[in-house]
Amino acid sequence: VVKSHEPVFRGDVYRDVAPLVVTFAGGSRGDWRVERIVPVRGASLPSADRLHVVEGDQPGASTSAVWSLRGVTSNLHYTSEGERLALLAAQPPLGRAGATKAALIPVRKSDRWWGLAQDERRAIFEERSHHINTGLRYLPAVARRLHHCRELGEPFDFLTWFEYAPEDERGFEQLVDQLRRTEEWTYVDREVDVRLAKEV
Ligand code: HEM
Repeated sequence: VVKSHEPVFRGDVYRDVAPLVVTFAGGSRGDWRVERIVPVRGASLPSADRLHVVEGDQPGASTSAVWSLRGVTSNLHYTSEGERLALLAAQPPLGRAGATKAALIPVRKSDRWWGLAQDERRAIFEERSHHINTGLRYLPAVARRLHHCRELGEPFDFLTWFEYAPEDERGFEQLVDQLRRTEEWTYVDREVDVRLAKEV
C-alpha cells in the first residue's frame, strides 16, 4: 500500500536499471531456432541449432551448450536525458507475441575505442554517428536490450539483443547496415550476427 505522502513513480521511469545477468547459450536446446550465424568482423561463433536465453543466475543453465556468452544489463552510459525520455516513450518490451524473429549481435570494440575519454566516445557515438537518433526511427518495431560483458572477461564487450516481427525484418536489416557504416563502427573489431526464429 502506497501512502499518500510517498512519491509515486508511475509507468516505468526506473525500469531496467537493476543489473540483470543474462546467459545466451548456443546448442541443441532453447526457445529460439538459429537461422544463421554470420561473422561480420573477426572470428565467428561455432554453429548451433538453438539458442537458450537464461535470465538471472541459474547454475547449469548452459551445461550442454556448444558456446555460452554472458552479459549484464547496466545503467546508461551515453544517453542524454532527452534521448532517454524519447526511448522510454517509444521502446516496446521484450517478449511480444508477434516478435518471432530475433538477433543476437555480440560486439567487441578496439583498444583505440577504450583508450578514448568519455566525452570523445559520446561524440563519436551520437554527435557523429547518430546511433540513438537512427535507432529511434526503428522503434517501436524493434525491441532491444543491451548487455555489457567487457568487465566479465568475456570474448565480446557487448551482447546486443533485438526482437521484431517477420514483416519488420527488412527494416532491421536497413538499420544494421546504416550503423555498420558509421564512424562508431570503425572501432568495432569483432562482430557476429546471430539470427533467430521462435518456434510457435
Ligand atoms: C533498434 C534501435 C536501436 C536503438 C534505439 C539503440 C539505442 C542504443 C542506445 C540508447 C545505446 C546507449 C546506451 C547507453 O547510454 O549506454 C546503445 C548502445 C549500443 N548499441 Fe544500440 N540501438 C539500436 C540498435 C542497435 C543495433 C542494431 C546494434 C548492433 C548492430 C546496436 C549496438 C549497440 C552497441 C554495441 C552499443 C554499446 C555501445 C557502447 O557502449 O560503446 N544497437 N544503443
